[in-house]
Amino acid sequence: MSVWRKKPVALYQAEANKSDLNRVLTRWGLTSLGIGAIIGGGIFTLTGIAAHNHAGPALALAFVIAGIGCLFASLCYAEFASVLPVEGSAYAYAYGTIGELFAWFIGWNLILEYMMGATTVAVAWSGYFNKLLHLFNINLPEFLVNDPATFNHGLEFGSWNFAFNLPALLITWVITAILIKGIKEAASTNNIIVILKVAVVLFVIIVGSFYVDTNNWEPFIPAEKMGDDGKMHFGVGGVLTAATIVFFAYIGFDAVSTQAGEAINPKKDVPFAIIASLVICTILYILVSLVLTGMVRYDQLDLKAPVASAFSGAGINWATYLITIAATAGLMSVMLVMMLGQTRIFLGMAKDGLLPKGMFGTLHPKFKTPYKSTILVGFIVSLVAALTPIEKVSEMCSMGTLLAFAMVCVAVLVLRIKEPDLDRPYRTPAVYFVAPAGFLFNIFLMTNVQENTWYAFLIWGTIGVLVYFLYSRRHSNLNNL
Ligand code: ALA
Repeated sequence: MSVWRKKPVALYQAEANKSDLNRVLTRWGLTSLGIGAIIGGGIFTLTGIAAHNHAGPALALAFVIAGIGCLFASLCYAEFASVLPVEGSAYAYAYGTIGELFAWFIGWNLILEYMMGATTVAVAWSGYFNKLLHLFNINLPEFLVNDPATFNHGLEFGSWNFAFNLPALLITWVITAILIKGIKEAASTNNIIVILKVAVVLFVIIVGSFYVDTNNWEPFIPAEKMGDDGKMHFGVGGVLTAATIVFFAYIGFDAVSTQAGEAINPKKDVPFAIIASLVICTILYILVSLVLTGMVRYDQLDLKAPVASAFSGAGINWATYLITIAATAGLMSVMLVMMLGQTRIFLGMAKDGLLPKGMFGTLHPKFKTPYKSTILVGFIVSLVAALTPIEKVSEMCSMGTLLAFAMVCVAVLVLRIKEPDLDRPYRTPAVYFVAPAGFLFNIFLMTNVQENTWYAFLIWGTIGVLVYFLYSRRHSNLNNL
C-alpha cells in the first residue's frame, strides 16, 4: 500500500456521471457563489487594520499583490476543475495526480480553510450585528458577544470566567439549517445577498469617490518606522505584510470548485466562474481601497468598521446604516459557501473511503444534502466561533488556504508533465511560469504569519498524518482495486 497511490482519473469521470447531487447551478449561479464567498470580512473589516498599521494608502497595492498571487492559483484551479469536475476540489485534484497521502494532507488543510474561514466570518458577523443593534440603541451584555479570551471579566463562577459569543453561535445554526434544506434554497438565498453586497460595494466606490481628497494619498507608501509592538511598519515590508492580511479577502474563489457536483455544465462553467468571480472582486477591492484611503487619512481609519465609519465621518450617516446592513447580510453568504464547501469536500473524501461514509457520505433522503456532516460542521464552527478570538482563527484559515493553493500549483504542473494528452477543456496559460510563480508566492505569504500560528499549524498537520495512517489508509477504496 503505497502512500503515493493515485485515484485513476477515469474513475473520477465515471463518478461525476453518476453523482446523486442535484445539478442546478448555472455559469452565473456559480460565479455568484464565488462572489458570495469572496466579498466579506476581508474588505469590510481587515482593510482598516491593513492600511492603518501596515500599508497606508498603498493598501490598494497590497490588494494588487495578493490578487496576482490568487490569480495564478485560480488559473491552476480552473484547469483542474475542467479535467476533474468533482466536488472534492484541491483534495481530489491531488488524489488524481500526486498521491493519496499528499491528497489527504491537502484535504486536511482545506478543513482549516473552510471551517476556520466560516468560523472567522461568524465572529466578524457578530461584530457587525452588534453594530447594527447599537445603531438601533440595543446593546447586548459584553459577556454574550465576546469570547472568554477577549472578554476576561465576564460572569464569574468561582475561579471561572464565563463569556461566549452568542450571535456567532446562533448565526452558524441558521446557516446550518439553510444548508440542510438544500443547495437550491442556499443558492437563491445567496443570489439575493450577493446582489445586495455588490450593490453596496459599488455604492461605496461611486458615492465615496466624490468625497476623495487626493492629499490623503500622499505619501502613497509611508516611510518605514518602528511601531509600539517592536515591529517595523509601513515601507515596502509593510505593504507585503498588508498583502498577507488582505489575502483573507480573496479566499473563497476556490469554493466554486467544490460545487462541481451540482453544476449543470461543470467542465466549462466551473473554470469560468472561478476566474470571473476572482477578477470581478479584485477590481472592486482595488477601487474600494483607493476610495477608502482617499476619503479618510490612513492613520485616522476606524479599525472595526472602516468602510461604514468613513461614510459617517463624511457626514452621510444614512450610508452607515446601509453599509452595516449589507455587511451583516453579506457575511452570511460567505459562511454559507464556506460551510457548503466543507461538507462537499468531506463528501468527496468519504466516497473515496478516507473518511467514514456513514457520517460524511450519507445524503438526506428528501433534501439530497449530506445532512449529518452539515450538522457536525455546524456544531464545530458554532462552538469555536463562540469561544475563540477572531485573529487566531483567521490566521489558521489563511495558512491552510495558502498551502492548499501552493499544492494545487504543483499538482497542475505534475499532471501536465505526466499526462500531457489528457482532455483539458480549460488550459492554464503559460503554465510553466504561472504554476511555479503561484507556488512561490503562496509559500512566501505563509512565512509572514505569527510564530504561534505556525506551531498550531504543525500540530494540526501531525494529527492529520496520524489519522491518515490509523484510519484512512486502511479504509481507502483503492485497497479494493
Ligand atoms: N474572503 C472572505 C472574506 O473576506 C473569506 O470574508
